[in-house]
Amino acid sequence: MRDPWTGSLRTRLRALPVFIGASPVLEPAAAPEGPTELFLGWLDDAIAAGLPAPHAMTLSTADHTGRVSARTLILRDVDGAGWHFATAATSPKGRDLAGNPNAALTFFWPGLGRQVRLTGSVSDLGTECGAQDFRERGEGSRAATLVGHQSEPLSSREVYWAAFATSLALVRADADLVPRSWSRYALAPDTVEFWQASTDKGQTRLLYRAEDDHWEKGLLWP
Ligand SMILES: Cc1cc2nc3c(=O)[nH]c(=O)nc-3n(C[C@H](O)[C@H](O)[C@H](O)COP(=O)(O)O)c2cc1C
Repeated sequence: MRDPWTGSLRTRLRALPVFIGASPVLEPAAAPEGPTELFLGWLDDAIAAGLPAPHAMTLSTADHTGRVSARTLILRDVDGAGWHFATAATSPKGRDLAGNPNAALTFFWPGLGRQVRLTGSVSDLGTECGAQDFRERGEGSRAATLVGHQSEPLSSREVYWAAFATSLALVRADADLVPRSWSRYALAPDTVEFWQASTDKGQTRLLYRAEDDHWEKGLLWP
């Protein structure tokens, strides 16, 4: 039997544009030797274009049985260790990473017709790095983090609000307070793929693959 709601949704989805306006051009021959410089240039472009949350990215992890999860996180830095993010080591993603360090990050900047995908291995950058990440945060963010129990079932919002108020008082009373589970991680990429939409010639995909001491660069069929 035909479902009129499904039909209507399909029609509306088909009519939606994905990219609006002209996109920048990715010229593979002019791309740098390694992916970091190109990524930072694209991030700067996304910031300059005023795109919402240009530093938001999807982190995909898998547990030791292969069960996959994905969620949005904020990029905290990019350096020799890789692409940084911060979260509770006791969260589901933290547990996934403890059992299986292989993960992926995906950035999507629709206003520029761009996607960047990274795969690699994630490492915990250590206690002091996690503590520094925590101290750099505003009071509200520190209080919310200190509440803990991330992704555990919650009986009511009132219970959370009470826990948040307690954490806020603790954070205000002690500027050096750092929850032990808060961790800064870095994904060291073994592949980085740049995807650029084009209005007339189809997409351009440029893949960097880490070799022993250099990056191999090549095009992918769209
Ligand atoms: C825009 C945005 C940014 C987020 N940034 C973070 C972050 O930096 N760290 C974090 O732990 N959770 C962040 N979250 C929440 C996560 O998406 C997720 O809900 C939470 O970390 C629990 O994930 P898990 O159950 O897979 O461990 C963010 C959510 C959104 C929508």
